[in-house]
Amino acid sequence: MDREAVAEIMSMKVVFAAPLLQAVSVRDCATIEANAEELRKLSLSTAFAVSDTVAYRALSESFRRDVTALAEAARARDHVAAEAAYLRVAASCFSCHHHVREERATGNLPGRLTMR
Ligand code: HEC
Repeated sequence: MDREAVAEIMSMKVVFAAPLLQAVSVRDCATIEANAEELRKLSLSTAFAVSDTVAYRALSESFRRDVTALAEAARARDHVAAEAAYLRVAASCFSCHHHVREERATGNLPGRLTMR
């Protein structure tokens, strides 16, 4: 995997995620929708899939579901749903980072497809 491509995509996540708290707070649906959509696209790029395990794939899929729900809530102008989806997106970021750190520390989490 191209380390630069991975670093670039990983740092772009926070670029699109950071304005979301403000946008959700002030009900700026256009920004919510645009940034959630950018996060969804990032999650589909090959450099996002740094780990080929069942657990990492599941975390990526649930992240994609959460950002999709956030974009849909903004499109529907459903502010309550957008607030809830925003919290799920943030939790999704942290869940995956916890997983990645733990995986690196122990190297033997269940759900591994390979011995790498
Ligand atoms: C499915 C897993 C996953 C999800 C979901 C995820 N990340 Fe990450 N993130 C990673 C991995 C893997 C790295 C790279 C860790 C490394 O190699 O040091 C990373 C690194 C980062 C970095 C550090 C980049 C750098 O320059 O070092 C930031 C910032 C970041 N993620 C933000 C986010 C934000 C914000 C979200 C949610 C909107 C998010 N991530 C969701 C897996 C994930």
